Amino acid sequence: MPTDKRITDLLKLHNMREKAKLGGGEKRIKAQHAKGKYLARERIFMLLDPGTFEEYDAFVTHRTHDFGMEEQIFLGDGVITGSGRIDGRLVFVFSQDFTVFGGSLSGAHAEKICKVMDMAEKMGAPVIGLNDSGGARIQEGVVSLGGYADIFLRNVLMSGVIPQISAIMGPCAGGAVYSPAITDFIFMVKGKSHMFVTGPNVVKTVTHEEVTFEDLGGAKTHSTKSGVTHFACDDEMQCLQHIRKLVSYIPQNWREKTPKRVSVDDADRIEMELNHVIPEDNTRPYDMKKIINLVVDQEEKPKSEFDEEIDKNKKEKKTKSTKGLPELVKPGFVSSFFETQELFAPNIITGFARLDGISVGVIANQPSKMAGVLDIDASVKGARFVRFCDAFNIPLVVFEDVPGFMPGTFQEWRGIIKQGAKLLYAFAEATVPKLTVITRKAYGGAYDVMNSKHIRADYNIAWPGAEIAVMGSAGAAEIIFKKEIDAAKDPKKAFDEKVEEFKEKFANPYEAAKFGYIDDVVEPSETRIKLIKALRMLQTKVQSNPKKRHGNIPL
Ligand code: HXC
Repeated sequence: MPTDKRITDLLKLHNMREKAKLGGGEKRIKAQHAKGKYLARERIFMLLDPGTFEEYDAFVTHRTHDFGMEEQIFLGDGVITGSGRIDGRLVFVFSQDFTVFGGSLSGAHAEKICKVMDMAEKMGAPVIGLNDSGGARIQEGVVSLGGYADIFLRNVLMSGVIPQISAIMGPCAGGAVYSPAITDFIFMVKGKSHMFVTGPNVVKTVTHEEVTFEDLGGAKTHSTKSGVTHFACDDEMQCLQHIRKLVSYIPQNWREKTPKRVSVDDADRIEMELNHVIPEDNTRPYDMKKIINLVVDQEEKPKSEFDEEIDKNKKEKKTKSTKGLPELVKPGFVSSFFETQELFAPNIITGFARLDGISVGVIANQPSKMAGVLDIDASVKGARFVRFCDAFNIPLVVFEDVPGFMPGTFQEWRGIIKQGAKLLYAFAEATVPKLTVITRKAYGGAYDVMNSKHIRADYNIAWPGAEIAVMGSAGAAEIIFKKEIDAAKDPKKAFDEKVEEFKEKFANPYEAAKFGYIDDVVEPSETRIKLIKALRMLQTKVQSNPKKRHGNIPL
């Protein structure tokens, strides 16, 4: 019986699609699952809204003939690429398939990634890379290196144009790490992902150090020691859900305004608890996250189809989330505060939140960690976050309680001068709406740096107990009244009196208010109301910087 060509064509297409879905084959799929890792395609489905993924280039193959490679052809060549939606908003995705040559990057594989990056730029939508790769495809040599460079170039050119997000779901080694490093946010999975310039074997040969994969470049290391990663997730599922959450706070591209959603939280909410957060003794610590969580929107806990599985994984691993402060939030609600780099330089807090439904970037000193001092790590962490927000029209909200910059040889020899200058530079060049709440201390140079009026902040308020001064009262009294104190009959009494005198004169918000350096002194309980009113007022803000090729941030 003659076959209908149309049917054989359809069958061929169907077979090719099925073959492409199999990646490196059943055996390797089993091996991936046995490692407790999902497949590249499964990850995409968990990341995107159901039914929205559109794949491109499923039939691309490599073009290598060396080392018997012509015998090993896998459709898609180790990376799945396409577009889809997160909460209905367009995103572009690539997901490396470890079952095909260990997800290694060939020329064709790189072209596929570049194609979705180019489309993301044209369409003005975020690009999300799920990395799981043995690095350069060894059989392709320099072609693979060229492919990496093509990606790096796009990472750089698209920086500040569209948001770029990387998740490391397996190995990411050698020069390959520099693509995620240029992107805006890096997610890692505890115990499953590794990032390093050279692995433990090379380290041993070169520096004679013995170090495990995990210690050298695991999620814990990069979320606490190096600050390379912004999120260390308990498992892949949480990682992908966190990416969805992050996307909800950021615009599609640099031209778009910060996202706004309908808030279920009262914009006129007075929060009396805020009047009691600051301890009476100004040397005692308190948790700035409590203030942030009380001020920002509380939102209904979102439901995800993967909630049950995430809870199950959590129970199995006996992990407990440190995010949010549940006791401050109504049952069934969560704080909209979403912290980035929670474990790195915890003396400064960075993260996204919503105020009256408007996405904002929060930067805050944390008095409960090293008294909230600005050291090198805190300055660099804060500066990069501020620049991301400014690049993507996200207003900045600063909560300030800062005793100054960290003194000492450790900091000076590593360049606290130029590193601290990064934070100053970032705040000063930012032209998005900028708001500051001084909760307690604003001392010295750190007062200027932390989004002061002088560097173009729009709305600066202080709480009544704020101390805006060159330094703390005790230190100031010791210096400026030294002679009188030394000459006094009772130097201790004289010192105490002088400290009081200084406090009365300078350690308050009214001296700054007198000069208009703060716009108002407000009751802490009204902070949310005041910030929301200011944010609404600032919606039409227009400001620009002098024309130039680009500035020269102290790197
Ligand atoms: C080609 C590779 C590969 C690579 C792994 N495979 N890495 N094929 N090029 N770079 C293949 C393996 O041959 C194997 O094929 C399959 O992927 C799975 O690898 P395994 O070793 O069996 O897996 P595992 O034990 O989990 O180890 C994973 C690994 C290891 C740690 C990634 O494979 C590894 O060390 N690979 C080499 C890493 C590397 O040195 N890459 C170059 C880095 S330099 P089969 O057929 O058995 O399934 C670099 C430069 C980038 O990337 C520069 C940019 C500027």
